[in-house]
Amino acid sequence: MVRKKRVLTGITTSGTPHIGNLAGAILPAIQASKDKSTESFLFLADYHSLIKNNDPNLTHSSSYEIAACWLACGLDTEKVIFYRQSDIPHIMELTWVLGCLTSKGLMNRAHAYKAAVAENKEEDPDKGITMGLFNYPVLMAADILMFNADVVPVGEDQKQHLEMTRDIALRFNHHYGEVFTVPDISIEEDAGILPGIDGRKMSKSYKNVIPIFLNRDGLRKKIMKIKTDSKEPGEPKDIEESSIFNIYRAFASEQLTEELANKYKEGIAWGEAKELLFELLEEKIGPLRQNYDLLIDDRAGLERILQTGAEKALDVSTPIINKVRQAVGIRGFGD
Ligand code: TRP
Repeated sequence: MVRKKRVLTGITTSGTPHIGNLAGAILPAIQASKDKSTESFLFLADYHSLIKNNDPNLTHSSSYEIAACWLACGLDTEKVIFYRQSDIPHIMELTWVLGCLTSKGLMNRAHAYKAAVAENKEEDPDKGITMGLFNYPVLMAADILMFNADVVPVGEDQKQHLEMTRDIALRFNHHYGEVFTVPDISIEEDAGILPGIDGRKMSKSYKNVIPIFLNRDGLRKKIMKIKTDSKEPGEPKDIEESSIFNIYRAFASEQLTEELANKYKEGIAWGEAKELLFELLEEKIGPLRQNYDLLIDDRAGLERILQTGAEKALDVSTPIINKVRQAVGIRGFGD
């Protein structure tokens, strides 16, 4: 039987997911995972979260919040292998093996590392830079190669990491013999980038996000805070410049979007536009919130789901790590 195409993506478990993530990543990935011609791997990149954060409570809570979020949004774990990176120790083992044939020069060129060095300006260029940050692309390569993924869909910001993964896989195969699939890169367009409540790109680092799982009142309050210009009711308003409109468009049907565009031309009051946005989001998110609240209160249930995912993932990673050990010469003396 021909093996199905393996599609793999990781989610770094830091911070609370927001509606920009929902429109741009979560819903499209769940949709894509329904494609019957592919086998989907989706994992919580919890060891990646240590690169950015040293708070054990945050690391732990982000991990189950994000797990609950994906499940609440409709991820079907019968169809997708959904697991936690830390449940697959083979990934860590592979990280070491790959690190031993990755040239330091390649890692020196990584954007995330270079940006951290640049921030140090004239001071010590190594200030505050950990080996975790430096090795981040190797860990990511191990995430991907551990499962011989064929395709890795990522945002533009991750493209370089994928190129490095390909480089590392080719180098390994060249030196030790063919073990790894060299993955294709699939760059997702930025259609999902939403403005935040201050009009800049919605991003944790700008503190301008609308979290997905606020309660009804909290959601309403956040939406009422969205920045607008000072146009009065009755004055025609620009749709492209309006955060309210752009968020609305990401969740509404074409017809509803057009109706709102017409109301902008007719000079809808900002308060009313916000109310329409709230109603739309509440309609979309309300049912997900109910799922989320049930899941978040049932940690044992979440744990069981992840353990089942880990078993499936280990079935795939075990033969591959065995091949890797054989290839590099780490094996029992009787073999
Ligand atoms: N680093 C990725 C991000 O920040 C998340 C990630 C970790 C990932 N490992 C991966 C994505 C492997 C794809 C494949 O978005």
